[in-house]
Amino acid sequence: MDAAALIEKLEGLAAQGEEFEVLLETAVEGLHQMNPRFHWTGIYELFPDNVLRLGPFVGAPTEHVFIGVGNGVCGTAVAEKRNVNVPDVRNVSNYLACSTETRSELVILIRSGEKIFAQIDIDSHQVAAFDDSAVQQVQAVADWLAKAYETRAAVRKSD
Ligand code: SME
Repeated sequence: MDAAALIEKLEGLAAQGEEFEVLLETAVEGLHQMNPRFHWTGIYELFPDNVLRLGPFVGAPTEHVFIGVGNGVCGTAVAEKRNVNVPDVRNVSNYLACSTETRSELVILIRSGEKIFAQIDIDSHQVAAFDDSAVQQVQAVADWLAKAYETRAAVRKSD
């Protein structure tokens, strides 16, 4: 399943009124299966206290369930409001290791303009695993999820 097929699946689930959490889980599982180089795939959600909290993930359990903004690759992406593609985590001084096998890491923000809702975090055992095509696929899913977060925020406001 490529990103377009995954987005179609997500659209279908959203149209059926599926729980938001199910949309996140489906996105993570779909992304994980999309590429054999993705060895750990998860979503960290940004909370108002400026802490990222681990949401659904596929792969080995991690001790990094909470990550402060500015910490590690994940927290740096939020602090600097940018996606991060690290070809070799051994060269990153503030890297927070989930697995000693991890070599490269990709963080794509789930955002709407300046507003950051969450991020997709993917680890690979391979150096420089995330080529342009992989990044584009993850970005497409992140953009779809950003719209889902926006819709959820709008519904909550009107309640
Ligand atoms: N490596 C990340 C921590 C999350 S784990 O990869 C799942 C970081 O440095 O922020």
